[in-house]
Amino acid sequence: MKKFFWGVATSSFQIEGHIENDFTEWEKEGKFKKAGLEPIYDNGTNHWLIWKDDFDLLKELGVNAYRFSLEWARIQPKINQFSEKALDQYDRMVDYLLKNEIEPFLTLHHFTHPIWFHEFSPWHNDNSIEIFYNYVEKIVMRFKDRIKFWITFNEPLVWVMAGYGEGNFPPGIKNPEMMMIALSNILEAHKKIYDLIKSINSDAKIGIANHFIVFKNERDWFLLDKAVRNRIDQFFNRMIPDAFVTNKLIANLPTILKFEREIELDNKIDFWGVNYYYRLFTKFKLSLDNPFHFYTKHPETDTGWEIYPKGILKILKMISNYGKPIIITENGIAINNEEVRKKFLKKHLKFVYKAIKDNIDVRGYFYWSLTDNYEWLYGKSKRFGLIFVDYESNYKRIPKESFYFYRELIHNYSQKFKTLAEKKSIK
Ligand code: NOJ
Repeated sequence: MKKFFWGVATSSFQIEGHIENDFTEWEKEGKFKKAGLEPIYDNGTNHWLIWKDDFDLLKELGVNAYRFSLEWARIQPKINQFSEKALDQYDRMVDYLLKNEIEPFLTLHHFTHPIWFHEFSPWHNDNSIEIFYNYVEKIVMRFKDRIKFWITFNEPLVWVMAGYGEGNFPPGIKNPEMMMIALSNILEAHKKIYDLIKSINSDAKIGIANHFIVFKNERDWFLLDKAVRNRIDQFFNRMIPDAFVTNKLIANLPTILKFEREIELDNKIDFWGVNYYYRLFTKFKLSLDNPFHFYTKHPETDTGWEIYPKGILKILKMISNYGKPIIITENGIAINNEEVRKKFLKKHLKFVYKAIKDNIDVRGYFYWSLTDNYEWLYGKSKRFGLIFVDYESNYKRIPKESFYFYRELIHNYSQKFKTLAEKKSIK
């Protein structure tokens, strides 16, 4: 078995602070009000200033990999201006990881943009591809000799659904057709970036981190519930991987959305990143507007999600059919009860181990997240971290019980993986 990556995942905006981008702009303009939720960013977790302390905690945690992103608005504050100062700090961060034998997994796009991007070219405009590509080219040239694992986009479908479906992320548009055009442009951008990175380093590994959900029809005897399940599952879990194989981006949710576009992706992806969190139930609703009904049946976490560890195995099996290696780029829970978080970790890893034993090509597991952080629409109220952040006391870090628990799991599983590898090589 090849080296297994044990890590934690973060994203720049959720932790860094000291930045202005499309999210801080929206907060300023009061546009985030949704169901009484109003996220307050207040410098995230202050990571930009104390990243070294966080990286020292990474070392203490015993991970051999770290997934993170760069803040586009910081690096390119204006369309024709790059900040060397920001790039220098990211240089130091990457070097520090490498010095400590922690493999950096770099996400190029994780939900946020410079404010100017929305003026020139939100993702529904074709020129967004070029604009993002120009930015990425700069990053690739800078980090090409140090970054081997690239994630071009984090949860592209989730982002377009928020930005163009529900409209509660910037640019705040509610238009399904534009949503699909934005997604198609994002996938085009992925392909261009893939070609760029490969032309510089053919050994680099390039993937996309998708959000996968287990969907279960409410009534087994009711065919329409099953039909609803299959349509939603196709749209949410398989539409993007399918597009890589068929070169067609197809969405078909009767009464809501019908879209088809040729897109020459030519299966240009080296691994699928799996972000897995929960299961949803589906039901047919007698409605001309929207027959698709989906919901959480057993809300257990602070974000109201079900804890469904077996689901990770189901998703791994499903995505393994696409024939690419898999990296679990996110899996985690927002909860204040440490017993529950520990159990969550233990149970999910049990199923990851089972997947590997069943010959599914899983190459890594990243817990979301290292520290508590800014959880988008929920602000700081939902705590996913292995490390508590005391926002009242100068962003003080306090490792939780699960921090030590995950460390032990990594240690024990590394031994188990070795034994498994030895057994396999005997055969
Ligand atoms: C998915 C996203 O990539 C991340 O930004 C978010 O915080 C976690 N899931 C938890 O919701």
